Amino acid sequence: MSDAPGKTEYSFSQKHLLGLADYSADDILYVLEQAKTFREVLDRPVPKIPTLRDKTIVNLFYENSTRTRLSFELAQKRMGADVVNFSAGTSSAKKGESLKDTIRNISSMKIDMVVSRHESPGVPHFLTRCVEAAIINAGDGAHEHPTQALLDMFTIQQIHPELKGKKVAIIGDISHSRVVRSNIIGLKKVGADVVVCGPKSLMPRFTESLGASVSYNLEETLAWCDIAMALRIQMERIKGGTDLFPSVREYHETFGIKMEHLEKFPDFMVMHPGPINRGVEMESEVADSERAVILNQVTNGVAVRMAVLYLLSGGDRT
Ligand code: CP
Repeated sequence: MSDAPGKTEYSFSQKHLLGLADYSADDILYVLEQAKTFREVLDRPVPKIPTLRDKTIVNLFYENSTRTRLSFELAQKRMGADVVNFSAGTSSAKKGESLKDTIRNISSMKIDMVVSRHESPGVPHFLTRCVEAAIINAGDGAHEHPTQALLDMFTIQQIHPELKGKKVAIIGDISHSRVVRSNIIGLKKVGADVVVCGPKSLMPRFTESLGASVSYNLEETLAWCDIAMALRIQMERIKGGTDLFPSVREYHETFGIKMEHLEKFPDFMVMHPGPINRGVEMESEVADSERAVILNQVTNGVAVRMAVLYLLSGGDRT
């Protein structure tokens, strides 16, 4: 495997992936570089590369997931790891067992890596203090979702190989999104320009401190950007429900991406981390159009997660 671009002395030395805030631009670009190799593996007739066959991994999911959970599990199995899956809803957490006891019991079964999704920010950091295993954050509350941002950057690279200077608009519920935070942190580190766009009621202060500009005008934003990444309104995290913005219908009218936008602004590509609310973040036809790379994001998620697992297991050091 190659060194990070332009750095002959570079070596990846991270033990965990808790958030992109802890990763340098070189770390991020190195993960993306490794992911290219794994993306090629996925196109082989037998898409397997058994570099984790001596590893045991637990997927510790306290929150629902389709893409992240299945793509991590698929990545682990493609790499030959032994995999066990924990779902809070069918576990002894339902009988009141604490997170600390849960992870310490699982760790006693000799686990090398933990992939964690939890509704509380900071849980992956807490896990590093409980067990020796490498911890990968698969989403912690509204804090970070680093592998989502990495797969988003990988997908942008497939369209625009040089991330530096690329114009990325992130549109929607900025307040409650862990995807937006990881994407702003990661994209800014590699030199992209980021604008966040959405209703004032869903626009937090932290975006500007992370280096993103703010827009409340969808058309201006779409005219500017190379990539338009739409986000779901996270009703489960909005206290007070729909009172925070006028209505879902009005949200769609003001901030939903429509076919007329694709015609008016012919350059931008459409992304979405999923799950999509068709007819809210975008018209259904936009999600299914040739301008959308939403399913590419999902495929790339397997490759990027393979790269993360490979690097955190020390694969490039053996
Ligand atoms: N993008 C994402 O995290 O999707 P899931 O919640 O289905 O994992």
